[in-house]
Amino acid sequence: MSRVAIRVNGIEVHGNSREPLLDQLEKAGFQPEYQCRNGMCGACRCKLKSGAVDQQDSMAFIAPNEVLACCSVPKSNVEVEFDYQLQQQELQASH
Ligand code: FES
Repeated sequence: MSRVAIRVNGIEVHGNSREPLLDQLEKAGFQPEYQCRNGMCGACRCKLKSGAVDQQDSMAFIAPNEVLACCSVPKSNVEVEFDYQLQQQELQASH
């Protein structure tokens, strides 16, 4: 499956099963926190409420129900939640 639905803090966006969640959320206009983008710092962690992701090995500490958005690729429709409010920016259409 390459197209998936990503629900983030209650807002659903279109996603895919090829790119890390962090990249996809940014493309959808969200600005989740991040630092290393490499699985080291844990800044991008979020709760995985439903669905499944492929997560690369990572060094950051996360709880069993959390994933690192920077190195997790959705395997199915997923629902994730960040502890803080995320606002979706208006995106410029790119041509
Ligand atoms: S941004 Fe550092 S672990 Fe994801």
